[in-house]
Amino acid sequence: MCGIVAYLGKKPAQPILIEGLKRLEYRGYDSAGVALINPDKGGIRVIKSSGRISVLEELLSEPDPKEVVGIGHTRWATHGEPNTINAHPHLDYTGKIAIAHNGIIENYSTLKTWLITKGCKFVSETDTEVIANLIGYLYSNTDGEDAPRDGQNRFEWAVQHALNELVGTYGLAIVCTDFPDMLIGAKKGSPLIFGLGKNEYLIASDAAAIVEHTTQVIYLADNEMVTITPKGFHTKTIDNIEIHKELKQIEFSLSAIELDGFKHYMLKEIYEQPKALNMCLGGRLDMRDGRIVLGGISKYWREFTRAKRIVINACGTAWHAGLIGEYLIEQLARINTETHYASEFRYRNPIIEDDTVVIAISQSGETADTLAAVEQAKERGAVTLGIVNVVGSTIARTTDAGVYLRVGPEIGVASTKAFTAQVAVLAMLAIELGRRRHLSTEQVRFYIEELSKIPAKIEEVLSLSEHIKKIAEATCDRENWLFLGRGFNYPVALEGALKLKEISYIHAEGLPAAEMKHGPIALITKGMPAVFIATKCSQYEKIIGNIEEVRARGGRTIIVASQGDENIKQYADFLISVPDVPEELQPMVTVVPLQILAYHAAVLRGHDVDKPRNLAKSVTVE
Ligand code: G6P
Repeated sequence: MCGIVAYLGKKPAQPILIEGLKRLEYRGYDSAGVALINPDKGGIRVIKSSGRISVLEELLSEPDPKEVVGIGHTRWATHGEPNTINAHPHLDYTGKIAIAHNGIIENYSTLKTWLITKGCKFVSETDTEVIANLIGYLYSNTDGEDAPRDGQNRFEWAVQHALNELVGTYGLAIVCTDFPDMLIGAKKGSPLIFGLGKNEYLIASDAAAIVEHTTQVIYLADNEMVTITPKGFHTKTIDNIEIHKELKQIEFSLSAIELDGFKHYMLKEIYEQPKALNMCLGGRLDMRDGRIVLGGISKYWREFTRAKRIVINACGTAWHAGLIGEYLIEQLARINTETHYASEFRYRNPIIEDDTVVIAISQSGETADTLAAVEQAKERGAVTLGIVNVVGSTIARTTDAGVYLRVGPEIGVASTKAFTAQVAVLAMLAIELGRRRHLSTEQVRFYIEELSKIPAKIEEVLSLSEHIKKIAEATCDRENWLFLGRGFNYPVALEGALKLKEISYIHAEGLPAAEMKHGPIALITKGMPAVFIATKCSQYEKIIGNIEEVRARGGRTIIVASQGDENIKQYADFLISVPDVPEELQPMVTVVPLQILAYHAAVLRGHDVDKPRNLAKSVTVE
């Protein structure tokens, strides 16, 4: 979603904010802005624009060395169209307060009506301006009973009182002209970290924006705030109770968020998959003893092994990984497993019994619906497990147990390496649960051995990129596609369709292949591309039948098949042969050609692969 970066130090803030915003651009990018405190001129200089950061940059004058405090924002519109007026930072009606906000204020309409009766003026359609005006109103109208006490400054006091009135979520960076060397950050429901550098402090919604300056951070929890001045900082709750927060070291190398010679982050991340999976599996596959070691679960194996039901929650690509997890856990561990869209689960009054375990899968660890599903499950007494990539993220901190993906930052909006790693973690979990329940030593060793070979097999698929590009060239002018698979490859079909939709804007439907005849078959016209995942598996013959159904209606088949399968050639207009893998582990290999196909199709159609329209990397609003 939106990105926040704020700076207080000795250097000119403007270039630091712009650099930070560029690193956050992948989160949301329909408009952007900065607000800089100028102590000489006694005001706040706000520069905003619709469009990308590069457009904003063109509007900026030379950095002013006196402007050493500022806040910046890149927006992904929720309330109001993405124009300059709606872009952040927003000023309050007095022009003294400026804020950058991530999240959604649910009671903004009530507050707005009330503030208008008090004489506050609004210029934008955003919910954020309500926060600015509420802080501004309280700031300018404090006296008598309500006045700040015990030496507390009026700015911090007004922020606290305003935040107590808000219903919804926020990550905030706030400045005030009367306190030109003060910066306030606050958090509820949207991520916010506070970085401590040498004589400088930063606030950001994502570590990527600040790692260039510092790796020492404090993670704010919900309802917490930080007040920063050049002399130091203090952390409090929004009820003004002082709290001590632990300083954490983030492990994050800058090279991990650079393009490294690749044209796009998505391509880089597709190619990183062998390395990323090796990181994910590293030290976790114990070949000698024939077991899987997952440190973050060690205290909860008993609950997992005895679980009667496992409920997986996720959104988007992570939900597809969850579906594969469902098949894996049922197949290898024989535990009843179901996968839910977190956005549905959180509102459906779910049944959680004593022996239900809830798993949340999330690359970012910040997806609002997935987090709410975890909270819902915890409230009802379930043991919760997070399969998360971003270390220290909210879902990682909220769940009882966890397994990190360890694949490094994923910047491309279309998820690739996180998906394969999510499946790898679910495979490890299923194998270990199976071992603890009923799998034989030979079976466990077999799966561990095969899992360890997956990175090398993905490497082989990557070498097919030019061949897949030619397929994209021949087909990417078509506006409607089908993706079909069965069993373990059915979720891969869903993921292949999603990848194509997200970045090339081609309409694509993913289906379990047999479902095609219950409706979608009506769509098939001459030349319509139909992608089949038809590798050697228990349903191989069945899927050949589905391929015939498409061919009989003039559809054009792109088939992902097992290397050495001569039989399949007769059915394929385009063939992509991938290395042989046991059926249960195939998704990690079969998804890769579909990622590459979507990538080439999007590039050929001239789209910005890393910043697809309307999408955001991390969806921190409902
Ligand atoms: C967004 C992203 C998707 C991602 C989904 C869930 O929609 O664009 O790529 O799969 O959110 O994100 P999460 O961080 O929870 O895995």
